[in-house]
Amino acid sequence: MTERSIFLLPGDGIGPEIMSEVKTLISHMNDKEGANFKTDEGLVGGSAYDAHGEAISDSDMEKALAADAVLFGAVGGPKWDDVPYEARPEAGLLRLRKDMALFANLRPAICYPALSNSSSLRPEVVEGLDILIVRELTGGVYFGEPKTITDLGNGQKRAVDTQVYETYEIERIAGVAFEMARARGNKVCSMEKRNVMKSGVLWNEVVTATHKAKYDDVELSHMLADAGGMQLVRWPKQFDVIVCDNLFGDMLSDVAAMLTGSLGMLPSASLGAPDEKTGARKALYEPVHGSAPDIAGKGIANPIAMFASFAMCLRYSFNMIAESERLEKAIATVLDSGVRTGDIMSEGCTQITTSEMGKAIREAYSAA
Ligand code: NAD
Ligand code: IPM
Ligand code: MN
Repeated sequence: MTERSIFLLPGDGIGPEIMSEVKTLISHMNDKEGANFKTDEGLVGGSAYDAHGEAISDSDMEKALAADAVLFGAVGGPKWDDVPYEARPEAGLLRLRKDMALFANLRPAICYPALSNSSSLRPEVVEGLDILIVRELTGGVYFGEPKTITDLGNGQKRAVDTQVYETYEIERIAGVAFEMARARGNKVCSMEKRNVMKSGVLWNEVVTATHKAKYDDVELSHMLADAGGMQLVRWPKQFDVIVCDNLFGDMLSDVAAMLTGSLGMLPSASLGAPDEKTGARKALYEPVHGSAPDIAGKGIANPIAMFASFAMCLRYSFNMIAESERLEKAIATVLDSGVRTGDIMSEGCTQITTSEMGKAIREAYSAA
């Protein structure tokens, strides 16, 4: 059977703790199911900075580019607050996204039945929730130039970030959102701020034109992104697919995370364009959350977003749909059984550690 290469980048804080649980599942799938995953591991973020002074080395970058898929934990933490801006841990992740051309970031927010009481919102607002945020990931204010801080010499400084989008960038992310919608609820809501931003005007225009040209079977609506944030917490089930730029997508996906009970629940897939000849696409899979410095090293982090990110990897990079669904079902089964990590703990449930949750998910996966 063909070898499936996965490059693992555990990163910092809770990254290595949650990655270790998924690594054990990968070994299990190799040993018991002949999955033939070949893994290699590198450094990213603060741990890479400590080892060689940059947030990802060129050689690890090459390995990421060569792998069938990259699994990423999390980066960052107070230890690296004072490192040069270019070498800050987050720069490693941004370089991976840019150099691998991962323009399409899929962030599904699903409220598992057992967790409808864990959200800070009323159960009827979130139960059965299944929405997908499609975030543009290689453009916008994250990468636009100029991006500078200038000393004005009078005790003042001026900081500039630049929001830039070109037609093709909006067209291709809109295409992903419409394609995704066709395979689920057939609705897309595009969010921007055309009332104050030129890039919002173009965004709205291009999404509308793309819809008209190729996807008019999909229901399209538009919302100003601030109102969209409000609607996400007022009645999130009105949405199916939300498409937005890099910064709005970052913020709205953290908001959506809390609808599912915890930031520790939300996975993501970052995908490049399919290769014209082979159809293969570069891809990186990571939880939406960060390195959670406040709980790192305590063995209490929720590994579910990491497992669910691996489930997305099985689906999108390896077309292992049955295994992906089995893993998602294993997560639901474990939650149904009443065990919880601290972040999703509720009355009547049993609190368990990261490694106990990992073991429970692997056992449920094997049993399914
Ligand atoms: P965070 O996501 O790390 O943590 C926010 C809160 O959620 C914390 O209270 C944390 O304990 C909790 N949390 C997050 N994941 C959890 C999990 N799996 N289980 C249980 N609780 C969890 O965000 P932050 O504190 O704003 O950022 C910390 C660092 O992480 C920063 O350096 C930031 O830049 C970085 N960050 C990295 C990524 C990434 O690597 N993809 C994403 C977001 C933030
Ligand atoms: C995310 C994170 C990143 C982002 C940071 C760590 C660069 O918050 O993946 O959501 O802002 O995109
Ligand atoms: Mn974020």
